[in-house]
Amino acid sequence: MLRDRRTAAKALHVHPDAPILFFDSGVGGLSVLAPTRALLPRAPLVYVADSAAFPYGTRSEEEIAARVPALLGRLVERYRPRLAVIACNTASTIALRHVRAALEIPVVGTVPAIKPAAEQSHNRVIGVLGTEATVRQPYVDDLATRFAGDCEVLRHGSAELVTLAEAKLAGETVAAEDVAQAVAPLAVRGDMDVVVLACTHFPLLAEELRSALPRAAQVDGGSGIARRIAHLTEDQPWPVQPPLGIAVFTGAPPRSPLASTLARFGLTRLEHL
Ligand code: DGL
Repeated sequence: MLRDRRTAAKALHVHPDAPILFFDSGVGGLSVLAPTRALLPRAPLVYVADSAAFPYGTRSEEEIAARVPALLGRLVERYRPRLAVIACNTASTIALRHVRAALEIPVVGTVPAIKPAAEQSHNRVIGVLGTEATVRQPYVDDLATRFAGDCEVLRHGSAELVTLAEAKLAGETVAAEDVAQAVAPLAVRGDMDVVVLACTHFPLLAEELRSALPRAAQVDGGSGIARRIAHLTEDQPWPVQPPLGIAVFTGAPPRSPLASTLARFGLTRLEHL
């Protein structure tokens, strides 16, 4: 009861224009922003791509653990979000704890959807397709032990797929053979009936991955995260009309095909940090 009153009191202090801030190394986090926007159409949105440090998947744990909390601290100061979403499995599996310790607002992470994958698998063979950094994390070992103890969990990290997803959203054509080659080590396992898209870039290549891994159902965290955000903000006020969504790049500004893609996600104001 006391807790309910506190939550309600806190909700009153959230300004309707306070945005939800999404953070990724590149455009992958749009696969988390899209279902959130569908569920909360009046939510003001700020999307941040740490393009100056892209890609995260080939970086060391130390680099990510130092960079991500510091950057989020600056972003929270600038945009005053009501909630931050680390829409990146690599950053979440390495730095979620550090970010939560550094920020005073709620922080939602994106971690490999191993639990729902194990719940769906008939063959008890699931794939975890992420970045090289993500698939080697103890966080993933822990999820596999807790939720997929009776499954064979195949892990595969691919930097190439991240590059292909960025290229697709920048308006380039992605060759089916390139995607097939990137997932070849998983494709040889015909008994793998579920694959976890454990990098937020990969749902952006869902169709291409369906052709490359036709026997595996795909699972990702996007809609679950959207529901979690809706739950955490359920008593909070929203503007009648959402303001223009903001896309922030830490590196070079996006060129026109990518800018048009961002506009389709409601992100029409481009800023630099
Ligand atoms: N989108 C990110 C993830 O979910 C990372 C991609 C990268 O920068 O390597 O892991």
